[in-house]
Amino acid sequence: MTTERESIAAFDEKRLAAIVELYIRTGIQVHSPGYMGRQFSGTVPMAGVIDFVGSVVNQPSSYYEAGQLPITAERIMAEELNRFIGWDPGRFAMVTTSGGSLANLTALLAARNRAYPDIWACGEHGGRGLPAIAVSEEVHYSVTRAAGVLGIGEKRIVRLPVDPRGRIAVNRVPAVLAAAERRGLEVFCLVASAGTTALGAFDPIGELAGIAAEGGIWLHVDGAHGASLLVSDVLRHRLRGIEKADSLTWDAHKLMFVPAPCTMLFYRDARDAPQAFGRGAASYVLDEEPDAHCALDSGDKNLECTKRPMIMPLWALWAVYGRALFAEKIEQLCQTAHEAHRVLLDEPDFEVLHEPEANILCFRYRPEGVAAERVHRLQLRIRKQVRLAGRFFISKVDVQGTAALRVVFMNHQISAEHFRMLLAEIRSTGQRLLRGDLPA
Ligand SMILES: Cc1ncc(COP(=O)(O)O)c(C=O)c1O
Repeated sequence: MTTERESIAAFDEKRLAAIVELYIRTGIQVHSPGYMGRQFSGTVPMAGVIDFVGSVVNQPSSYYEAGQLPITAERIMAEELNRFIGWDPGRFAMVTTSGGSLANLTALLAARNRAYPDIWACGEHGGRGLPAIAVSEEVHYSVTRAAGVLGIGEKRIVRLPVDPRGRIAVNRVPAVLAAAERRGLEVFCLVASAGTTALGAFDPIGELAGIAAEGGIWLHVDGAHGASLLVSDVLRHRLRGIEKADSLTWDAHKLMFVPAPCTMLFYRDARDAPQAFGRGAASYVLDEEPDAHCALDSGDKNLECTKRPMIMPLWALWAVYGRALFAEKIEQLCQTAHEAHRVLLDEPDFEVLHEPEANILCFRYRPEGVAAERVHRLQLRIRKQVRLAGRFFISKVDVQGTAALRVVFMNHQISAEHFRMLLAEIRSTGQRLLRGDLPA
């Protein structure tokens, strides 16, 4: 389809149709009940319509003068969602970022700059020890990568051990932090996960907040996956203590069913938000005679200069359908994970790895007699064959060093019956692999 032309070609309906058809047919089919593998969701169709409008009007949302409605909608959604976080409405702030990874990086920058006020200007931390961060062994790689970007060496990432359910073992944290201090490290930020990527486990935020406050440490909660549970009255308790955190990453393109990316980074104290990037905005965007609307600009608080008006699909869904749309769907997905877990418990040839806290379920196909050293490769190969067969899409993740099959329920049309069909496919694929009937 990519042919070289001398001049602008006439509009070719057939070519356009072929491109659209190819786009729809290839890649992961996120709207299918067979899609159970990743954390981005099939979108609510209306969100797609608003996104389409956004692509045509093309109003970036960093500055009010360009994107008046998106910037206003950001403020409205911030206030709506902060009701569930519980921060002082007059003091908190929210900025959108292009993805949870960038939100985590931005939060770590703000935390570092608050702990070391001279570092942005002089590059010198001037602290007691070497700046370090403390993270769960299960933390998302975007956080450890952000540490690298900040110049915090791998060896200065303090790893907090987890319990068998994948949550930070809070009783062991003080000792690990004390050991880090003895090594000459100064932990300025502790990162908790509200929904780990592997198991969907929720760290005990309230207890960690107590430890962080005692040490004068910033508590960042990576809720890229699970912060959305806050909008549900029955699931909110998973993030108990969130009101004590300093910042929160919240991906709406995961459990709020809007097009990616749509991420919100919340700060408990609005004064921390502009600290992330110092004061270096350029004269061509900075208004030297600011009016009231300039206070809504977010350009000074973001790494991005031009930023998609990503809030619009979320705000439109919220405005048209209300909170219940999100709450009910999230509750249903978590309930499906719960039912799937029960189904799995009755299948002796499957190894159940945890009781799901959200909509993620990990397990292994492990019939009796399979040697321990074959289990890892078997899961990898099952996952690959299932993907190639095309009826289901699941993912894999290492759990305690051994590959596991990972199912993420993102589609409310998935029932326990679909899950049973998936298990049947995994079983038959596994058996064929063990018999050597399938290529290695
Ligand atoms: C816990 C967690 N944090 C951060 C991220 C990164 O978010 P994004 O993919 O929006 O950059 C993910 C993505 O899966 C995640 O699961």
